[in-house]
Amino acid sequence: MAEKPIKTRRLAADEEGIAEAAAILRAGGLVAFPTETVYGLGADATNGEAVARIYAAKGRPSFNPLIVHVCDIDMADRIGVIVGEARDLVQECWPEPVTIVVPLREDAMVSELVTAGQPSVALRMPKSDIALALIRETGRPLAAPSANPSGRVSATTAEHVVAGLDGKIDAVIDGGPTPVGLESTIIGFLDDKPRLLREGAFSVTLPDIRIDAGVAEKPVAPGQLASHYAPLASVRLNATKAEPGEFLLGFGDVKGDLTLSAVGSLTEAAANLYAMLHEIDARGVTRLAVAPIPDVSLGRAINDRLRRAAAPRD
Ligand code: TXA
Ligand code: MG
Repeated sequence: MAEKPIKTRRLAADEEGIAEAAAILRAGGLVAFPTETVYGLGADATNGEAVARIYAAKGRPSFNPLIVHVCDIDMADRIGVIVGEARDLVQECWPEPVTIVVPLREDAMVSELVTAGQPSVALRMPKSDIALALIRETGRPLAAPSANPSGRVSATTAEHVVAGLDGKIDAVIDGGPTPVGLESTIIGFLDDKPRLLREGAFSVTLPDIRIDAGVAEKPVAPGQLASHYAPLASVRLNATKAEPGEFLLGFGDVKGDLTLSAVGSLTEAAANLYAMLHEIDARGVTRLAVAPIPDVSLGRAINDRLRRAAAPRD
């Protein structure tokens, strides 16, 4: 992956910066941008070469399918077949941090690299004025995985993006810290009933939507589920205190060297999780212990990420 380094520009989240970013994207470049969840590494989803550059920049070993970001339901309708419960969900809930996986339209203009050649596509409308303005101005749907090197902690600030991808992407729009801090919930609408494919920032409350709770993000490629969202340190979960030489990431009553939320708020913990893991990397920590997090609502998504961070690595 020894691509020649390029200059990564830092753009302001204003009209001029967004216009500049849109021009880079239309020309097939890569721009990282803030969403309400985490920073995305965007490319024109209709341009196969641009999408291929995402994999090169992230060092992704395999072509996992990517989420396509749209600015409205009309744009989504030109890509996927959104009917029944999927339609109800997007009409009620977008833009909230929920991604739908639906059948790909035969005439959809997205690159096969985005869908990894599958007849389905993941669609999401981010709840961020910056992201929406960027997609609108580009005039194309944007494929965008989280803006971090493959397998590492997702970026929730422009600084995190630069720390991981400087010299590998054309630009980053600096919109400050992302408010939610955890990726979107993914729901599949390919079978007889909706399926939860990835726990995430959105709790589904629609009465008509039946969710098979606990179905984890299904690996479409072997090994995809293993080590992910990982800091450089080894990770031990459900720790109520640090062993000698360990750095403790606390929550609630378990006070740590850093604490996700001293008052035990899951929302605050979600917003802090990735930023604190980046901080722990920056401090050169080699052994990390993490306090127990209640496995309810947003805590389920936090625990999902922590389990992956703790998974054995190759
Ligand atoms: O919050 C988010 O969702 C962030 C921000 C940037 O929007 N994006 C994000 O994208 O997390 P990414 O590429 O890291 O997540 C892609 C995941 C894949 O691992 C896969 O589980 C699912 O989306 N996915 C994408 N296309 C799919 C498909 N056709 N079928 C099943 N799952 C799919
Ligand atoms: Mg990711």
